[in-house]
Amino acid sequence: MISKKVTLGAGLLASMLVMSSSVLAQTVGFSQIGSESGWRAAETTLTLQQAKDRGIDLKFADAQQKQENQIKALRSFIAQGVDAILIAPVVATGWNSVLEEAKEAEIPVILLDRMVDSSKDLYLTAVGSDLVHEGNVAGQWLVGELAGKDCNVVELQGTTGSSPAIDRKNGFEQGIAGHDNVKLIRSQTGDFTRTKGKEVMESFLKAEDGGKNICALYAHNDDMAVGAIQAIKEAGLKPGEDILVVSIDAVPDIFQAMAAGEANATVELTPNMAGPAFDALAAFMKDGTVPPKFIQTESRLYTKADDPMAVYEQKKDLGY
Ligand code: AHR
Repeated sequence: MISKKVTLGAGLLASMLVMSSSVLAQTVGFSQIGSESGWRAAETTLTLQQAKDRGIDLKFADAQQKQENQIKALRSFIAQGVDAILIAPVVATGWNSVLEEAKEAEIPVILLDRMVDSSKDLYLTAVGSDLVHEGNVAGQWLVGELAGKDCNVVELQGTTGSSPAIDRKNGFEQGIAGHDNVKLIRSQTGDFTRTKGKEVMESFLKAEDGGKNICALYAHNDDMAVGAIQAIKEAGLKPGEDILVVSIDAVPDIFQAMAAGEANATVELTPNMAGPAFDALAAFMKDGTVPPKFIQTESRLYTKADDPMAVYEQKKDLGY
């Protein structure tokens, strides 16, 4: 009898190659961060759907934004002896011990949409976008749009310590580097939520002469941008005109805002991380095919020129 488990160690892996063609993941644990954004909701919907389509029993755990809950969930999955674990890690650090426990139990772990600072040996693969590139594209779009005009930019960061907050900040700074007309004057976390995006934008507006001193907003996700758009309107200014708005995710609501002229650009992050993750897992469990350490999803820029209402119609029923 061959075990369902697949080790990350080379010895056992080699011995399994001979006999494992019929061994597929049946039970997979999924530790989701929470439901902070429309994008996160879509990722959850798609992961549940992808698991169902493949006949996988998905054990879903919502961590409500807390790393300690994710660590508990992983330990519970390990105790239950799942075949594999998917995790969207809320922050980048603090995962070594629990990932070592999963490795010890011979349970492959796949990271979804965010990265960790741990050794690459502790997970099978990571599925995600190039987060630095996303920020860079947003910065370059702004530079092009301004065509040399002076511009003070405020930034709404994602969750502190998360890989998208770190990388999207760096990427944006790279995108505007060397363009002295573009100045980042304020930057604060809005925790990837609409409510905090609105709250922090209100404080930016107050601190900057009611917003007269702000020319653009860069938000690490669309939900914070949507909250900020509301704050800008309440301050008596026109988002999209008085203050340009560029963000990341491409959720349906930002296309409605774009169609209304209240947002200017977004960089798409696909919520279908589970498809490539389950494909990689199936190949690994079937014949030991080791996936690349990083499976990159595509990112693309959308602007008002892309018929935002048509994109909204395509996306509105996809679980966002
Ligand atoms: O890790 C991906 C980010 O997390 C998305 O951009 C954001 O909306 C989410 O909550």
